[in-house]
Amino acid sequence: MLFEKIFARTVAPFAGLPGPKPLFPIGNLLDFLGKSTRPWEVMASYGERFGSMSVMWMLNQPAIVLNDARLITEVLCTRTKDFYKDEPCGALIPVLTRSSPNINNGAEWTRTRTQSPLTQPWIGEWRRAQMPALRSVLRRWGERMASVTDREAVPLQNELQRITFDCFSVATMGSELSDAAYADFMSLASQGSKRMLTPRRPSPDLNSRGQETRKRFLRVLRDRYDAAVASPRPASFDLLSMAMRQNTLLPPDELSAEMGNVFYGGCFSVPSTIVSTLYLLTQHPNESQKLKAAVLQLDDDCDLEALNDCKPLDYALREAMRLLPAVPMFGRRVLPTAATEVGGCLLPPNTSIWLVNWLLQRSGPHWDRPLDFLPDRWGGGVAEANPLGSEYFFPEGRGPRICLGAEYSIFYMKLVLATLLRRWDVECGQGQPYDADQKFFFGVRMPMGLRARLRRRA
Ligand code: HEM
Repeated sequence: MLFEKIFARTVAPFAGLPGPKPLFPIGNLLDFLGKSTRPWEVMASYGERFGSMSVMWMLNQPAIVLNDARLITEVLCTRTKDFYKDEPCGALIPVLTRSSPNINNGAEWTRTRTQSPLTQPWIGEWRRAQMPALRSVLRRWGERMASVTDREAVPLQNELQRITFDCFSVATMGSELSDAAYADFMSLASQGSKRMLTPRRPSPDLNSRGQETRKRFLRVLRDRYDAAVASPRPASFDLLSMAMRQNTLLPPDELSAEMGNVFYGGCFSVPSTIVSTLYLLTQHPNESQKLKAAVLQLDDDCDLEALNDCKPLDYALREAMRLLPAVPMFGRRVLPTAATEVGGCLLPPNTSIWLVNWLLQRSGPHWDRPLDFLPDRWGGGVAEANPLGSEYFFPEGRGPRICLGAEYSIFYMKLVLATLLRRWDVECGQGQPYDADQKFFFGVRMPMGLRARLRRRA
């Protein structure tokens, strides 16, 4: 009787909302267990079945699912003070460091975001200066991949993940890190990912082995900082040196840790996006030819402006991020201290809210032929009308918490695609569905199974 009363009290605030029928006591958990690697598709299907706002139940916990541009604008852009970011904060606090805005709210979020090297006025210079060094890493990798894939195609996501780790190490700290550092990073990311996926609230800290791994990884980063202090390199282009020259406000441990947090931000989402782009290009040989012709018109060592001005490259990347976003959903919560209204419903404090870009980016009437890969759709003012972080195109989030690495990731992905496609024919996922062995790892849709080959062009 008491139990029924408690249950009724929990359910009552959501009684007027549509949603999938929950089963007592598991709620809608079964929807997610059958296709556990695709929660975004389940939530998008709620949008199709129940409209812009629905309620689902994870055991006895309600969660609001928003598939509506206007309501998502409220949560992410215009009424941010009524909400906070809960997950992945709890899951990732012991993995990342407190210096990352990703796991902060309130004043600490403002401090970490405004002090991050990535938001400083000189950051464009950093992108420009790293281009030659990254190109040589990528060309060596291309040669190696062409020889490795001479006989058979190999899964591309893992390979791109590692080369992205190497490129980010060069860009942030001036040279590559060791295999052992990569192993430590991957071990920490795996623990973070498991913590993000567990339906229970994760424990406050990692186990003792995890804590050791984290200490070791942070030590490697701090050693780079100490080396830069011991022998400053006045002309060095890496983020750490530039931030030090520019008198960053971040204390040493935070600054060095922030170099490592770039890996967590981009080492999964960036490769996922590049693999998806190469997959879509392989499926559409005409588009692939168009893009190749455009990148061949660039100089081998073209500058940042020329890279940015290459419209076919820009449009192909946008179209891939629209159709197959690496982060297809993310979350917020109502403040723990005050109920708030969303879509005409008064949501109790701490209600979980899922914001889904998967459906809005892939459906009409906003997008014509929404499921077709049509890079040219972005011409004629459409790119300007739908910038990154707008109502129907937000693969890197929206509003004040839009991805901190958004500009950097777009730059880096263009550099990778242009460098590869100038020299090699890349075939990715030939004859495979886009979701071959797809995983959900660290909040990212990972196309783990798509196999690729690189062939040097004559
Ligand atoms: C294609 C690549 C990327 C995608 C798809 C992506 C996606 C996203 C999304 C959707 C968010 C917003 C999450 C939310 O509002 O809850 C976000 C936030 C964030 N991203 Fe990225 N990201 C990418 C690359 C990167 C890179 C390269 C970095 C680091 C340089 C990075 C660092 C961050 C950080 C620190 C935040 C938190 C920002 C804040 O809360 O103020 N991301 N990203």
